[in-house]
Amino acid sequence: MNGAPGSLVEVEGLMRIVTGVVEMQRVCRELRVGGVVGFVPTMGALHEGHLSLVRRARAECDVVVASIFVNPLQFGVGEDLARYPRTFAADCAALEEEGVAVLFAPEAGEMYPEGAVTTVTVAGIGDRLDGASRPGHFAGVATVVAKLLHVVGPGRAYFGQKDAAQLAVLRRMVRDLNFDVELVACAIVRDADGLALSSRNQYLNESERVQALVLRRSLMAMEGMIARGERESAALVREGMRVLGAEAGVRVDYLAVVDAESLLPVMAAETGTLVAVAAWVGGTRLIDNFVVG
Ligand code: PAJ
Repeated sequence: MNGAPGSLVEVEGLMRIVTGVVEMQRVCRELRVGGVVGFVPTMGALHEGHLSLVRRARAECDVVVASIFVNPLQFGVGEDLARYPRTFAADCAALEEEGVAVLFAPEAGEMYPEGAVTTVTVAGIGDRLDGASRPGHFAGVATVVAKLLHVVGPGRAYFGQKDAAQLAVLRRMVRDLNFDVELVACAIVRDADGLALSSRNQYLNESERVQALVLRRSLMAMEGMIARGERESAALVREGMRVLGAEAGVRVDYLAVVDAESLLPVMAAETGTLVAVAAWVGGTRLIDNFVVG
C-alpha cells in the first residue's frame, strides 16, 4: 500500500506516512516533546465528518496525528469488511491539506501479528445498541482504539458524536483502564439535506439515498415532540417508529431513548439523554442520533 511495514515515507515533505507500530511509537514520542498531540483515528474513505475532527484537533492541539485502518476485528461475519470503501490516495491528500503531521496506516498483520490474543471488552455498554445487533463489534473497536492510543500516546483524541454508542464505550474504557487521554466529542456533520455523512453512504443507490433521509426525519419528529413538552420515551419512540414505518424499504434495527453514558433505556427523556436510531436502507445499515438539549 505505502511502503514496507516499519518504513517512514515522506510525502512532499509535509505529511509523513508511517506503517509500522515501532516506528510510529518513535515518531510520536518525538512529537510529544513539541506539545499536545491530537489524534483522529479513522477507517478512511474520508468525508467532511472526518475532516471536521481533524480541524478541531488542529485548532486545539500543537500537532495532529491521524490513522487509517480498516479494522477487521470490528466487522462481523457477513459484514462489509471486504467491500468497505478504500480511497487511500484521496484520503492522504485531504489529510495533508488539513495539516496532519503524521498518518499511521498499518496493514492488518502489523496491528494483529500472529499469536495476538489480548482484547478489550467493555462489558454491558458494549452489548447495547449497535453492540446488540453487531455482537463483538465494540470489543473490536475498543481493542483497536486501545492499541492506537498506546501507539500514538495523544493528549486528546477526537471522535464523532455520530457514533454515540462508540463514544460511550470508549469513554468507559478510558476511565476504567486509566488511559491518560482526553476524548473530545465532535458534532455530527450532515449533507445539505440532513443525511449524516458516512463512508457507507457510498453504498446507497439514488432511491435508497432518498429513503435514508427518513432516519433524520424520525429523529426530528421526536425532537419536535420534546420541544413541545413530551418527555415519555414510549410516546417518543412510537412517533419515531411511525415516521420510519412510512418509508418502505427501510428496516429499523433500533430506535432508542437511552442514558448517553450507560446506553440503558430511560423512561423519560431529559437534558443529555441520547435518542439514537439504526436502520437498514436496502443492504446498508445507517445510524443517526441527537442528544436532548
Ligand atoms: P470511521 O467510521 O472512519 O469514523 C472515524 C471517526 O469519524 C469516528 O469518530 C466517527 O464518529 C467520525 N465521524 C464519522 N462520520 C461523521 C460525521 N458525519 N460527523 C462527525 N463525525 C463523524 O469510527 C470509526 O471509523 C472506527 O470505529 C474507529 C474509531 C476508527 C476504530 O476503528
